[in-house]
Amino acid sequence: MRRPLVAGNWKMHGTRASVAELINGLRQQVLPADVEIAVFPCSLHIAEVFGGLVGTGVTVGAQDCAVDPEQGALTGEVAASQLQDVGCALVLVGHSERRLLLGETDAEVVRKFAAVQSCGLTPLLCVGETLAQREAGKTLDVVGAQLASVVEALGIEAFIRAVVAYEPVWAIGSGLTASPEQAQQVHAAIRAQLAAQSAEVACAVRILYGGSVKAANAAELFGMPDIDGGLVGGASLNADEFGAICRAAGS
Ligand code: PGA
Repeated sequence: MRRPLVAGNWKMHGTRASVAELINGLRQQVLPADVEIAVFPCSLHIAEVFGGLVGTGVTVGAQDCAVDPEQGALTGEVAASQLQDVGCALVLVGHSERRLLLGETDAEVVRKFAAVQSCGLTPLLCVGETLAQREAGKTLDVVGAQLASVVEALGIEAFIRAVVAYEPVWAIGSGLTASPEQAQQVHAAIRAQLAAQSAEVACAVRILYGGSVKAANAAELFGMPDIDGGLVGGASLNADEFGAICRAAGS
């Protein structure tokens, strides 16, 4: 049985005051014991969030890391080993905002994925198609190629300790959500692609859906057989809403 994971990606949001308020709000939530819950604050706030959530069972992750795992002369970057040092357990890699707005390539995503694992942390690999790609009937090709770049470079064993998130770019922050059936079709294809190399790894890996997940649509999405939780952006900035999404992933 795959344990569901609900991950809150706070993106480039938050001040010390609003983060303290969000931590407080999360501490007041009744969170399901059978769901793994993680939040991804901006790097500046990781230590504060890690400290503030001690004892809640909520894991803290980072939104990105440098391609090299160790500290070094690289102005402005954060190494996976530094993230490990401040208590991060997970790191997002290949979020579409980084791929599309900052030009992050598949090759960089592969290096970041490897850097995260080399520090004992778990990468959460994001994949997804744009609206134009979906309308051109290329969804499975695009997502398949993003996944294949990591599998080919690092081997199927790399997915023993990894999470995948399917995030259609057109659904991110847009209020448009993939229907449960649309999402399930892509999740099943991702699992089948991994299963072609190892049925065992494919069966165990968690595949999250992301893109305008909210309390009102979460249960329906999480009810699909290959959707093992969610990567939540905007709605994760509201503790009550995020708590409700986490409960929707529970049994
Ligand atoms: P959203 O973002 O929930 O605001 O659509 C999801 C994401 O980008 O991870």
